[in-house]
Amino acid sequence: MSIRVSIKRYDPERGGEPAWVDYEIPAHEKTTVLEALMQIYEDMDPTLAFRFGCRFDKCGLCAVEVNGKPRMACYTDIKDGMKIGPLTGMPVVRDLVTDRTAFFEALRELEIYIPDQGERSEPQVLQQSEVHTKLLSCVECLACNATCPGYDFEKNPLVGPYTFVKLAQLHLDPRNKIDRKKQALDLGLGGCGGCKKCICIHGINIRKHAVEVLLGE
Ligand code: SF4
Ligand code: SF4
Ligand code: FES
Repeated sequence: MSIRVSIKRYDPERGGEPAWVDYEIPAHEKTTVLEALMQIYEDMDPTLAFRFGCRFDKCGLCAVEVNGKPRMACYTDIKDGMKIGPLTGMPVVRDLVTDRTAFFEALRELEIYIPDQGERSEPQVLQQSEVHTKLLSCVECLACNATCPGYDFEKNPLVGPYTFVKLAQLHLDPRNKIDRKKQALDLGLGGCGGCKKCICIHGINIRKHAVEVLLGE
Protein backbone atom coordinates (compact mmCIF):
# COMPACT_ATOMS: atom_id res chain seq x y z
CA MET A 1 0.00 0.00 0.00
CA SER A 2 1.34 3.44 -0.76
CA ILE A 3 0.11 6.78 0.50
CA ARG A 4 0.73 10.39 -0.34
CA VAL A 5 1.71 12.93 2.31
CA SER A 6 2.59 16.63 2.10
CA ILE A 7 5.39 18.12 4.13
CA LYS A 8 6.02 21.81 4.64
CA ARG A 9 9.58 22.42 3.53
CA TYR A 10 11.62 25.51 4.31
CA ASP A 11 15.33 26.17 4.20
CA PRO A 12 16.20 29.74 5.24
CA GLU A 13 19.66 29.38 3.70
CA ARG A 14 18.09 28.88 0.28
CA GLY A 15 15.56 31.67 0.87
CA GLY A 16 12.07 31.77 -0.55
CA GLU A 17 8.81 30.95 1.17
CA PRO A 18 7.89 27.68 2.91
CA ALA A 19 6.26 25.30 0.42
CA TRP A 20 4.32 22.04 0.61
CA VAL A 21 6.05 19.10 -1.07
CA ASP A 22 4.27 15.80 -1.79
CA TYR A 23 5.82 12.39 -1.19
CA GLU A 24 4.48 8.97 -2.07
CA ILE A 25 5.61 6.37 0.41
CA PRO A 26 4.89 2.73 1.16
CA ALA A 27 3.02 2.58 4.46
CA HIS A 28 1.72 -0.28 6.56
CA GLU A 29 -1.05 -0.10 9.07
CA LYS A 30 0.35 1.50 12.23
CA THR A 31 3.22 3.26 10.48
CA THR A 32 3.75 6.39 12.54
CA VAL A 33 4.30 9.89 11.20
CA LEU A 34 7.85 9.72 12.54
CA GLU A 35 8.51 6.40 10.75
CA ALA A 36 7.17 7.93 7.54
CA LEU A 37 9.50 10.92 7.93
CA MET A 38 12.43 8.56 8.50
CA GLN A 39 11.47 6.59 5.42
CA ILE A 40 11.44 9.75 3.31
CA TYR A 41 14.77 10.84 4.78
CA GLU A 42 16.45 7.47 4.22
CA ASP A 43 15.02 6.50 0.82
CA MET A 44 13.98 9.67 -0.94
CA ASP A 45 15.31 12.93 0.42
CA PRO A 46 18.18 13.15 2.93
CA THR A 47 17.74 16.93 3.12
CA LEU A 48 14.47 16.60 5.05
CA ALA A 49 14.97 18.04 8.56
CA PHE A 50 12.94 16.84 11.54
CA ARG A 51 13.66 16.18 15.18
CA PHE A 52 13.12 13.18 17.41
CA GLY A 53 14.59 11.42 20.41
CA CYS A 54 12.91 8.64 22.37
CA ARG A 55 10.38 7.49 19.71
CA PHE A 56 8.12 6.68 22.63
CA ASP A 57 6.07 9.78 23.48
CA LYS A 58 8.41 10.73 26.31
CA CYS A 59 10.92 13.34 25.12
CA GLY A 60 8.62 15.80 23.32
CA LEU A 61 11.14 16.45 20.57
CA CYS A 62 9.10 15.13 17.65
CA ALA A 63 6.08 17.46 18.07
CA VAL A 64 4.82 18.69 14.68
CA GLU A 65 1.50 19.77 13.24
CA VAL A 66 -0.54 17.16 11.43
CA ASN A 67 -3.43 18.57 9.40
CA GLY A 68 -3.01 21.81 11.33
CA LYS A 69 -3.11 20.28 14.82
CA PRO A 70 -0.13 19.60 17.11
CA ARG A 71 0.71 15.93 17.39
CA MET A 72 3.58 13.80 18.61
CA ALA A 73 5.01 12.34 15.37
CA CYS A 74 6.14 9.13 17.08
CA TYR A 75 2.66 8.51 18.48
CA THR A 76 0.45 9.35 15.51
CA ASP A 77 -0.42 6.92 12.74
CA ILE A 78 0.23 8.19 9.23
CA LYS A 79 -2.77 8.42 6.89
CA ASP A 80 -3.14 9.10 3.20
CA GLY A 81 -3.37 12.83 2.44
CA MET A 82 -1.90 14.03 5.72
CA LYS A 83 -0.22 17.43 5.80
CA ILE A 84 2.75 17.68 8.16
CA GLY A 85 4.25 21.01 9.17
CA PRO A 86 6.25 22.59 12.00
CA LEU A 87 4.55 23.89 15.16
CA THR A 88 2.78 27.18 14.52
CA GLY A 89 4.13 30.25 16.25
CA MET A 90 7.71 29.05 16.64
CA PRO A 91 10.61 30.26 14.47
CA VAL A 92 11.56 27.54 11.99
CA VAL A 93 15.18 26.49 11.75
CA ARG A 94 14.49 24.22 8.77
CA ASP A 95 11.53 22.16 7.55
CA LEU A 96 9.91 20.66 10.68
CA VAL A 97 12.61 21.80 13.12
CA THR A 98 11.68 24.78 15.29
CA ASP A 99 14.02 26.88 17.40
CA ARG A 100 13.58 25.41 20.87
CA THR A 101 16.91 26.84 22.00
CA ALA A 102 15.71 30.44 21.61
CA PHE A 103 12.61 29.60 23.64
CA PHE A 104 14.47 27.97 26.53
CA GLU A 105 17.06 30.78 26.55
CA ALA A 106 14.23 33.29 27.02
CA LEU A 107 12.73 31.13 29.77
CA ARG A 108 15.87 31.52 31.91
CA GLU A 109 14.71 34.95 33.08
CA LEU A 110 11.89 33.33 35.08
CA GLU A 111 14.30 31.19 37.12
CA ILE A 112 12.36 28.05 36.33
CA TYR A 113 14.07 25.82 38.83
CA ILE A 114 14.12 25.02 42.52
CA PRO A 115 17.10 26.78 44.12
CA ASP A 116 19.75 24.74 45.84
CA GLN A 117 18.41 23.87 49.30
CA GLY A 118 21.85 23.88 50.92
CA GLU A 119 23.03 21.13 53.22
CA ARG A 120 20.36 18.74 54.45
CA SER A 121 20.70 16.21 57.16
CA GLU A 122 17.90 14.01 55.81
CA PRO A 123 16.60 13.44 52.28
CA GLN A 124 13.33 15.27 51.57
CA VAL A 125 10.26 13.27 50.62
CA LEU A 126 7.83 15.28 48.54
CA GLN A 127 4.12 14.70 48.84
CA GLN A 128 2.75 15.46 45.40
CA SER A 129 -0.91 16.18 44.78
CA GLU A 130 -2.62 14.56 41.82
CA VAL A 131 -2.63 17.90 39.99
CA HIS A 132 1.06 18.45 40.65
CA THR A 133 1.90 14.94 39.45
CA LYS A 134 -0.09 15.54 36.28
CA LEU A 135 1.69 18.85 35.67
CA LEU A 136 5.04 17.13 36.14
CA SER A 137 4.17 14.73 33.32
CA CYS A 138 4.78 17.59 30.84
CA VAL A 139 7.39 16.48 28.30
CA GLU A 140 8.26 20.03 27.19
CA CYS A 141 7.21 19.52 23.59
CA LEU A 142 5.94 23.16 23.39
CA ALA A 143 2.97 21.99 21.31
CA CYS A 144 0.50 23.73 23.62
CA ASN A 145 1.91 27.13 22.67
CA ALA A 146 0.83 26.39 19.09
CA THR A 147 -2.79 26.01 20.26
CA CYS A 148 -2.94 29.38 22.05
CA PRO A 149 -4.61 32.03 19.85
CA GLY A 150 -2.61 34.82 21.53
CA TYR A 151 0.80 33.16 21.30
CA ASP A 152 3.36 35.35 19.56
CA PHE A 153 6.98 34.23 19.81
CA GLU A 154 8.29 37.49 18.35
CA LYS A 155 6.38 39.67 20.81
CA ASN A 156 7.16 37.59 23.90
CA PRO A 157 8.05 33.91 23.60
CA LEU A 158 7.15 33.30 27.24
CA VAL A 159 3.49 34.32 27.16
CA GLY A 160 1.87 30.99 26.44
CA PRO A 161 0.49 27.81 27.99
CA TYR A 162 3.81 26.01 28.36
CA THR A 163 5.15 28.77 30.65
CA PHE A 164 1.96 28.66 32.71
CA VAL A 165 2.30 24.87 33.09
CA LYS A 166 5.87 25.35 34.25
CA LEU A 167 4.96 28.13 36.70
CA ALA A 168 2.05 26.08 38.10
CA GLN A 169 4.42 23.10 38.60
CA LEU A 170 6.72 25.32 40.64
CA HIS A 171 3.88 27.06 42.50
CA LEU A 172 2.75 23.67 43.80
CA ASP A 173 6.25 22.60 44.78
CA PRO A 174 6.79 23.07 48.54
CA ARG A 175 10.48 23.88 47.95
CA ASN A 176 9.63 26.84 45.67
CA LYS A 177 10.54 30.26 47.08
CA ILE A 178 9.54 32.56 44.20
CA ASP A 179 6.04 34.05 43.72
CA ARG A 180 5.03 32.11 40.61
CA LYS A 181 1.52 33.56 40.50
CA LYS A 182 2.97 37.06 40.28
CA GLN A 183 5.33 35.97 37.51
CA ALA A 184 2.37 34.56 35.59
CA LEU A 185 0.25 37.68 36.12
CA ASP A 186 3.14 39.95 35.12
CA LEU A 187 3.42 37.95 31.91
CA GLY A 188 -0.27 38.53 31.18
CA LEU A 189 -2.08 35.49 32.55
CA GLY A 190 -5.04 37.77 33.37
CA GLY A 191 -5.54 38.17 29.62
CA CYS A 192 -6.56 34.51 29.34
CA GLY A 193 -10.06 35.51 30.52
CA GLY A 194 -12.51 32.73 29.75
CA CYS A 195 -10.38 31.27 26.96
CA LYS A 196 -10.09 27.50 27.11
CA LYS A 197 -8.26 26.89 23.90
CA CYS A 198 -4.92 25.58 25.16
CA ILE A 199 -4.55 21.89 24.44
CA CYS A 200 -1.86 19.58 25.71
CA ILE A 201 -1.03 16.64 23.46
CA HIS A 202 0.14 14.75 26.51
CA GLY A 203 -3.10 14.83 28.45
CA ILE A 204 -2.64 17.76 30.86
CA ASN A 205 -5.72 19.92 31.40
CA ILE A 206 -3.85 23.20 31.06
CA ARG A 207 -6.79 25.49 31.72
CA LYS A 208 -7.81 23.72 34.94
CA HIS A 209 -4.47 22.57 36.27
CA ALA A 210 -2.25 25.51 35.32
CA VAL A 211 -4.17 28.65 34.32
CA GLU A 212 -6.85 28.33 37.03
CA VAL A 213 -4.36 27.21 39.70
CA LEU A 214 -2.26 30.32 39.05
CA LEU A 215 -5.31 32.59 38.90
CA GLY A 216 -6.79 31.14 42.10
CA GLU A 217 -6.73 32.74 45.55
S1 SF4 B 1 -6.26 30.02 28.23
FE1 SF4 B 1 -4.58 31.50 28.02
S2 SF4 B 1 -2.78 30.25 27.61
FE2 SF4 B 1 -4.58 28.95 27.20
S3 SF4 B 1 -4.97 29.21 25.02
FE3 SF4 B 1 -6.22 30.71 26.07
S4 SF4 B 1 -4.99 32.58 26.09
FE4 SF4 B 1 -3.60 30.87 25.62
S1 SF4 C 1 1.88 21.04 28.59
FE1 SF4 C 1 1.57 19.34 27.20
S2 SF4 C 1 1.65 20.22 25.17
FE2 SF4 C 1 2.54 21.72 26.58
S3 SF4 C 1 4.72 21.31 26.57
FE3 SF4 C 1 3.87 20.11 28.25
S4 SF4 C 1 3.42 18.10 27.36
FE4 SF4 C 1 3.71 19.50 25.65
S1 FES D 1 10.48 11.02 19.71
FE1 FES D 1 10.32 11.43 21.86
S2 FES D 1 8.23 12.00 22.06
FE2 FES D 1 8.40 11.45 19.97
